Parts: sequence; C-alpha cells; structure tokens
Amino acid sequence: MKKEKILALTKEYVYNELANDRTGHDWWHIARVTKMAKNMAIEEKADTFICEMSALLHDLADEKLNVSEEAGLTKVSNWLVSVELDEKTKLEIIEIISTISFKGGGQPKMKSLEGKIVQDADRLDAIGAIGIARTFAYAGAKGDLIYDPAILPRDSMTKKEYRTGKSTAINHFYEKLLKLKNSMNTPIAKKMAEERHQRLENYLDAFFEEWDI
Ligand code: ADP
Ligand code: NI
Repeated sequence: MKKEKILALTKEYVYNELANDRTGHDWWHIARVTKMAKNMAIEEKADTFICEMSALLHDLADEKLNVSEEAGLTKVSNWLVSVELDEKTKLEIIEIISTISFKGGGQPKMKSLEGKIVQDADRLDAIGAIGIARTFAYAGAKGDLIYDPAILPRDSMTKKEYRTGKSTAINHFYEKLLKLKNSMNTPIAKKMAEERHQRLENYLDAFFEEWDI
C-alpha cells in the first residue's frame, strides 16, 4: 500500500475512534499534533511518514480509552498490520507510542528523533492558549473545580493519581503545564515552548489578579 493511502486510512480510523472523545483526546488534538509533528519533521529532516503515523495513533493506546495500555498497544499494532506496514516501520511506530503512553514513574527517554518530535508536538499542545482550553475542558469533564484555594497543588504524582485524586484546573498548571517547557527534546520545540509558556504565566497573573480583587 502507498504511504499516502496508509495515512488517509489511518486518519479515518483514528477520527472514528476519537470523534466523540471527551477525555482530552478529541480528534482535533490529534489533528494539531499531527500537523505540528509533520512540520517539525521537515524542519529537523526526520522521517515525516513515521512522525505523522505516530502522531495520528499516539493517544489510541491511552489507558483511559482501553482496558489496559497493553490492550491499547495491541489494537494499534493490529491496525498497522491491517494496512500492510512493513515490520521495521511498524516496530518504530509502536516504540514511539508505547514510550508516549508509559505511565510508570519517570517516563523513559525517547530513542528516535521521530519520537522526540511527536512527544514535543504533544507537549506543545498541552501549553499555550490551546493547552489552557484543554485543561479547563478536562477538569470540567472530570468534575473538578476551576480553582479552590483550599486544595493545594500536589507534586510528584503519577498521571493516574492526578486522575483519581482531587485537584483543580488551576492546580494542573503547577502540577504539569509549567514544567513542560523544560522537557522539550528538540531546539525548534524549545523555542516554540517559550512563547506558549509565557501565555500560561500571563494567564495565571490575570486569573489571580481577578480572583483577589
Ligand atoms: P496528552 O498526552 O494528549 O497531553 P493527557 O491525558 O495527559 O493527554 O491530558 C489531556 C489534556 O488534559 C491535556 O491538555 C492535559 O494537560 C489535560 N489534563 C490532564 N490531566 C488533567 C487534570 N488533572 N486537570 C486538568 N487538566 C488535565
Ligand atoms: Ni496527546
């Protein structure tokens, strides 16, 4: 199968899987991350096909959407076999997706340049104006408050604990978003993260100015 055809079929497959998602993994998050990863791949002279495919599939193995992470990875692997992808490319994509989905303490380092790019694109979508919107949408879907001065931000927690424990949308900025700037892999993402990070800081300043009035 031609690469264009595989990409088109994968887009359709992911769209159908995530169109109704309300857990922060909606189709438009995938579309933004895929576009960003493709542009970054061109800039960094990485493999655009692997970047686009991994970006399209990166959230499908998420534990929120599957019985387990393993079950999610099997689903992705089966899909790649069904579009007749060669074994080597399939393994490269699976490696990227499993590293992105890793939920144990301390995410392992991304090995390939393509993986670094997709991870950066995913992290960039979690900060800036879009990241702020996603945070409030996620908190709302989870039943968390916008903010509660009595609930302190909790550090060094796993993603699972964030999800099951009590937090607020504003706390999520301190628990995760403000730290993402320093976790970018590629120079281009580091640069893009600066402006988006500043938008988080500006937003928090404005939020607390109005809160304390
Ligand atoms: P992704 O890997 O695509 O960023 P996540 O599952 O980590 O997916 O999060 C989805 C979106 O919801 C992200 O924008 C993230 O910052 C936000 N989010 C995750 N956990 C929380 C939380 N406890 N409160 C508010 N927003 C959250
Ligand atoms: Ni994502």
